[in-house]
Amino acid sequence: MNKEDMWKPFITNVGLITCRDEKKDNVMAAAWTYHISYEPNLIAVLIDEEATTVKMIEKSREFGVHIASIKQNILSSISGGNHGENVDKIAVLKELGYEFYEAEKIKALMIKGCALAVECRLKDIITFGGDHKLFIGEILKVREDEAEPLIYCESKYFKFGEKIEKPNEKEMKKIKGIIEKHKKK
Ligand SMILES: Cc1cc2nc3c(=O)[nH]c(=O)nc-3n(C[C@H](O)[C@H](O)[C@H](O)COP(=O)(O)O)c2cc1C
Repeated sequence: MNKEDMWKPFITNVGLITCRDEKKDNVMAAAWTYHISYEPNLIAVLIDEEATTVKMIEKSREFGVHIASIKQNILSSISGGNHGENVDKIAVLKELGYEFYEAEKIKALMIKGCALAVECRLKDIITFGGDHKLFIGEILKVREDEAEPLIYCESKYFKFGEKIEKPNEKEMKKIKGIIEKHKKK
């Protein structure tokens, strides 16, 4: 597999990152969004150095992180397909009927109807010589709208499909026996 195809087997959520800079609001899509710690409660987002969002968060030091729902694929494509420098994406999305609300703990707009919406204060930015920077946010406020998360793979959107059953009791007993046999002393 060559370097350009490396991303293909990865299956992710779609993170939607909102931020505000001098009263201008923006939103971008970030598949590389992860919950990385319970205590302290932290979220990490990998953002391209070229994204408008980078400059905005470096300045405001706070941002909203959302996990997109299955009804937000268009919202994701608009947020991920345009730069805030050139397009007022929030105005586009509002005109399309998407709803926002004012964050409680930070200065940013939050998106309604997501599987998860968290307000974050910037804790750290980690650079590692790559083309993305790692933004770590401390979670200040959480909101759940009980929406099903959108799945993203190979630049396409999906929803949950068939569940894979766990091994039955007999199979579990066999597996446990094998684990027992190979336990390190
Ligand atoms: C579904 C999807 C996932 C994306 N994931 C990321 C990501 O994890 N990190 C990133 O830097 N860009 C990602 N992008 C691209 C950015 O969203 C895109 O560069 C966007 O225009 C940046 O917006 P901004 O310039 O307003 O900050 C993704 C795009 C899409 C459509």
